[in-house]
Amino acid sequence: MNIAVVYWSGTGNTEMMAEKVAEGAKGAGAEVSVFTASEFDGSKVAEFDAIAFGCPSMGVEVLEEEEFEPMFEGCKGNLSGKKIALFGSYGWGDGEWMRNWEEDCNAAGAVLACESVTCQEAPDDEGEAACIALGEALTA
Ligand SMILES: Cc1cc2nc3c(=O)[nH]c(=O)nc-3n(C[C@H](O)[C@H](O)[C@H](O)COP(=O)(O)O)c2cc1C
Repeated sequence: MNIAVVYWSGTGNTEMMAEKVAEGAKGAGAEVSVFTASEFDGSKVAEFDAIAFGCPSMGVEVLEEEEFEPMFEGCKGNLSGKKIALFGSYGWGDGEWMRNWEEDCNAAGAVLACESVTCQEAPDDEGEAACIALGEALTA
């Protein structure tokens, strides 16, 4: 099983989450490739059995708009029937960005493998464990 972890992180919190997602998927026996948003695009989607996407809440409850959002828009047309999972860090909001993102993924026909994982700023032990479980869920 081939899994991609694709993330954007400005101050490292979502990056820490991505590392744990990769650890979980590897621990479950998958081949894992980790990409930052600028390293990935829609043409790569078909190379992977499942993809974890990670992006913090930016702007006003939106995905990061310079790199991640354009990359993700470019992937969306290829996500129908694809197993994916979402994760990301936030600061002061109530997770609205993640709810909107999930809706967007459902509308694109993606199959969400598990509940999305959100962590307020840096992941604590519980958040890290949830990221590892997300990585494992993608291999199921
Ligand atoms: C420009 C900017 C906009 C942000 N907008 C929001 C927001 O709308 N809601 C929220 O909960 N947090 C917001 N945050 C906080 C970040 O989501 C939070 O600091 C997160 O941990 C950053 O993740 P990162 O370290 O992976 O970049 C914003 C941060 C920045 C820098």
